[in-house]
Amino acid sequence: VHRLDGERPLAGRRALVTAGPTHEPVDPVRYLANRSSGTQGYAIARLLAEAGADVTLVSGPTTLPDPPGMHVIRIETAREMLAACTSALPCDIAVCAAAVADWHIAAATQKIKKTDDGRPPELRLSPNPDILATLSRSASARPRLVIGFAAETEHVIAHATAKRLRKGCDWIVANDVSPATGIMGGTENEVTLIDASGAEHWPRLDKTQVARRLVARIATFMHTQPE
Ligand code: CTP
Ligand code: CA
Repeated sequence: VHRLDGERPLAGRRALVTAGPTHEPVDPVRYLANRSSGTQGYAIARLLAEAGADVTLVSGPTTLPDPPGMHVIRIETAREMLAACTSALPCDIAVCAAAVADWHIAAATQKIKKTDDGRPPELRLSPNPDILATLSRSASARPRLVIGFAAETEHVIAHATAKRLRKGCDWIVANDVSPATGIMGGTENEVTLIDASGAEHWPRLDKTQVARRLVARIATFMHTQPE
């Protein structure tokens, strides 16, 4: 029985959360990365677990400790993240909070050396799999509720609304990650929740408070939408 008013409204539900950056190796000592700290995704995973969900957290490299009471899978690359997510299916709820690298490099097996002519190496990028789109479009095991993030630096609502449709997810949590906002790597977040019916702006909140609100929304959705 799932009770919304109880302390554990998501008891019996399985949730998958991706968090953190991915690292895409260039050679044995170098990688491509981004500024994600994993804070927002880890907070969502922790609040889902506190709400009673059975949580798998698939995390890129972060300095954060494993949150208690969940299954944590540590990965480095986007391709590893996809494989770990696939292994965690089926689930009821998927929250893709990771800042997945969009590209990877065919990594050199030995350290790339400078050459005498001073010419820099050319890094040839290949596209990474899109984990959010893959989960959203899964024919056999689509989670009932798939939530993505949209990290934008301009035209936040327009880009995020288009992204929701392109990815095929149910909700998008949009935010402005311009350096001036301090959100990327910071402790606060200011998001707009976008679903099929529109956009709802939330005030600037601690990332834990954003997670608390989002998990409350998830619990309400799971209790009010038909299976
Ligand atoms: N995402 C993902 N796998 C990828 C890229 C993105 O799962 N290879 C997810 C992110 O976790 C996030 C959402 O997709 O929930 C949007 O990520 P974002 O980088 O904003 O979108 P992109 O489609 O990569 O578009 P762009 O970077 O060009 O804005
Ligand atoms: Ca991207």
